[in-house]
Amino acid sequence: MLSMQLKIYKDYQSLSEAAANEIVSLIKHKPAAVLCLASGDTPRLTCKLFATKAKQENLDLSQITFIGLDEWVNIPPDNEGSCHYFFQHEIFEPLQFSPGQVHLFDALSTDLNNECRKMDGLIFDKGGIDLMIVGIGMNGHIGFNEPGVSFDNYSHVAELDNTTTSVGQKYFKAAMTLQQGITLGLKHLQEAKKVLLIANAAKKAEVIQKTVEGDVTPSFPASIMQQHNNGYVMADEEAAGLLTAKNK
Ligand code: F6R
Repeated sequence: MLSMQLKIYKDYQSLSEAAANEIVSLIKHKPAAVLCLASGDTPRLTCKLFATKAKQENLDLSQITFIGLDEWVNIPPDNEGSCHYFFQHEIFEPLQFSPGQVHLFDALSTDLNNECRKMDGLIFDKGGIDLMIVGIGMNGHIGFNEPGVSFDNYSHVAELDNTTTSVGQKYFKAAMTLQQGITLGLKHLQEAKKVLLIANAAKKAEVIQKTVEGDVTPSFPASIMQQHNNGYVMADEEAAGLLTAKNK
């Protein structure tokens, strides 16, 4: 029996509404929450809706700790394809987060291992991640936890696989050399108090089927979700399209 739960939504809009509502209700319940989000196409609407709702409801965001899931190594923060740029424009600027409350990997650092240890230390000091919202790559990656990764890793630098380097081009205006990523590890995901893996569109149907119904194996990192006892796979109907009826 799976400990993870599956939730299917009519479309991308209702999926994103539900994910944004999760962030809002966490902050209402715990104003000093530790929140970790992925960037990318999938969470974009979640972030926009969260920003809108937070403003409408006049939420106090001053005590939140915000952690970025990952970053492309060697890509500067002002590049529009970077995770920094995404969060800056979708969350930090609209909601006027203060620099002291946001923690993103410095992917230009000459000591990336130190970046990893700093991030791990911060998460431990804050008492762990309350809510993590992640996407899924076309190779089953979460963050930059690529196929073959250890489930026991905390933050680390990853060599990106070919799927990630080619699919990743979609975020950049010009062709980009992408070789490494710096990322939270799957141990962080396992220890997070709540995890939402969100996916939309038919192109994600195969990876969602493997995530929910495949073997739990490092060769398909997102399968770790099956073992999270407060983990939710949230898919729109298209992304859930290949699941067997019993899971729908
Ligand atoms: C980005 C990240 C990646 C993406 C994944 C899906 O911060 O962690 O793992 O979540 O590649 O990307 P999209 O949502 O663009 O399909």
